[in-house]
Amino acid sequence: MLRTHTCGELTVKNVNETVTLCGWVDSWRDHGGVVFIDLRDRWGITQIVFNPEADKEMHARASRLRTEFVIKTSGTVLKRAQAAINPKIKTGTIEVKATSLDILNESPTPPIEVGSDDNISEDLRLKYRFLDLRRPVMQKHLHFRYKVSKIVRDYLDSLDFIEVETPYLTKSTPEGARDYLVPCRLAPGTFYALPQSPQLFKQILMVAGYDRYFQIVRCFRDEDLRADRQPEHTQIDMEMSFVDQNDVMAMVEGMVRRVFKEMFSLDITTPLKRIPYQDAMNTYGSDKPDLRIPLTMHDATDIFANTEFKVFRSTLDSNGVIKAMKIPGGASLSRKDIDDLTAFVAHYGAKGLAWMKVAQGGKLESQIAKFFTEQELEALRSRLELTDGDIVFMVASTWKVTCDALGALRVHLGKKMGFLKEGVFELCWVVDFPLVEWDEEEKRYMALHHPFTSPRTEDRELVDTNPLAARAQAYDLVLNGTEIGGGSVRIHEEKLQEKIFGLLGISKEEAKVKFDFLLSALTYGAPPHGGIAIGLDRLIAMLLGLDSIRDVIAFPKTQKGTCPLTDAPSEVDEKQLEELSIRVRKA
Ligand code: AMO
Repeated sequence: MLRTHTCGELTVKNVNETVTLCGWVDSWRDHGGVVFIDLRDRWGITQIVFNPEADKEMHARASRLRTEFVIKTSGTVLKRAQAAINPKIKTGTIEVKATSLDILNESPTPPIEVGSDDNISEDLRLKYRFLDLRRPVMQKHLHFRYKVSKIVRDYLDSLDFIEVETPYLTKSTPEGARDYLVPCRLAPGTFYALPQSPQLFKQILMVAGYDRYFQIVRCFRDEDLRADRQPEHTQIDMEMSFVDQNDVMAMVEGMVRRVFKEMFSLDITTPLKRIPYQDAMNTYGSDKPDLRIPLTMHDATDIFANTEFKVFRSTLDSNGVIKAMKIPGGASLSRKDIDDLTAFVAHYGAKGLAWMKVAQGGKLESQIAKFFTEQELEALRSRLELTDGDIVFMVASTWKVTCDALGALRVHLGKKMGFLKEGVFELCWVVDFPLVEWDEEEKRYMALHHPFTSPRTEDRELVDTNPLAARAQAYDLVLNGTEIGGGSVRIHEEKLQEKIFGLLGISKEEAKVKFDFLLSALTYGAPPHGGIAIGLDRLIAMLLGLDSIRDVIAFPKTQKGTCPLTDAPSEVDEKQLEELSIRVRKA
């Protein structure tokens, strides 16, 4: 080793020792001829003092040091004078009086100030990622990520799971996104797909008897990118045989408990709350409810069943619903505020936002109040437990639009009006998802999770008679309003799998081309099995309270899917294209 210690470990216990440190110059100061250097490495910062009296020539070299120069320096550890102690750093009680200095490498003035946590443009951070990753805050994030991964690995190992790698060059797996394709040189015109997840391989591993598989694995999805979506993300992917959904959820709860305990010394109470999908949508307007916000939605369809208020009447006549949500203290919202909120819910398909303010004595005030009977208003008052100063918002539309619009409003106002509890972790499961939903554009049923999800045993008949009412044995893990994991009990019978493919409009021929290997495996003694995948990037970002998963990925892509560091994606040589039998047609 070039060094005897790291920059984060010397204390008063080391006083008078001769040490050698290596690292980057974090900052430099020249105080009346004495040069002070803060030397940084992964472990911390140590102050080095270069005195002209110690060695003139060395001191002259030290005067040349600038930020991000890489040096090796030896010297004696000295206790700092009381007034010079820096309580902010671990080594703040000592300094090293240098006796030698080697400049191992120089650096131009860096475009990113490594020692600063100031807002730096993300473009610059990603272009100079090697400097950005040097920043202590990024080092903390990646270290945290590593530690969580290790806790997860150790936990799964303790439960007898084994890690098995599955291919990256494979066939398309339908997780709902577009595939990234890789041309195959040896068979011109054919392509591998990068896996959207190892879903089918892990099921095949169950058929092969590898009960209790896991893999911390990269998944590739070509979809619209957002703060919590990357073209390649990492999953903690797991699968177990001879289990029901409670077994899988209990196993994940144990993992979550351990992560919180070891990372934050926090005791998470398990079993976690389990919210049926219908309840989540009806109460929170979302299948990933943010339980930090204490606002809830209420159905008011029955209250207004006989109303003559035109907007509500026409909704009810076309089988729509009316939902209401109370915002305590919301009576102070201005007309302009309400107009803005009306525009906000319009993004979610709501044609309007009805409102009533609760004045003193419980009187409901609004331009529309006159259209309702006292009986209707009283029923609303009592259902929502309205008190003076509240405002009630109501949306009348299809069930889906009503849930989406009021659900989004709930989160929006929850944050804006300070209802959201900061600094807490609210975890829950959402269960009993519908097996399929109707896609109006494609005019066909789509799997809510994926086509390999088993219907609930008691809902099997509904698959034939009323597919939209059939519930799946699927479960999502939600943390503070973000879906951090999803899984299901799988179909392990070939006949049922074929039937579900049929329901989803996947013809026998298409199923044969795409999933013959799965259907074949299912015929050879497939055990009942189920599993889950947790999004590692999302989990880490949530635990660290970060908005973007890019801050917990060493080399992420931009929102446009590019990598400013390497300039990927890029054009390739004509020769490479020729080898792949590919001709590019430029638009
Ligand atoms: P699913 O598609 O729900 O399930 O993915 C599991 C979890 O992975 C995370 N995730 C993502 N994170 C970042 N960027 C993305 N583009 C992205 N897509 C998904 C989410 C999500 O909850 N094979 C199934 C799992 C199973 O059934 O066992 C699957 O992939 O946190």
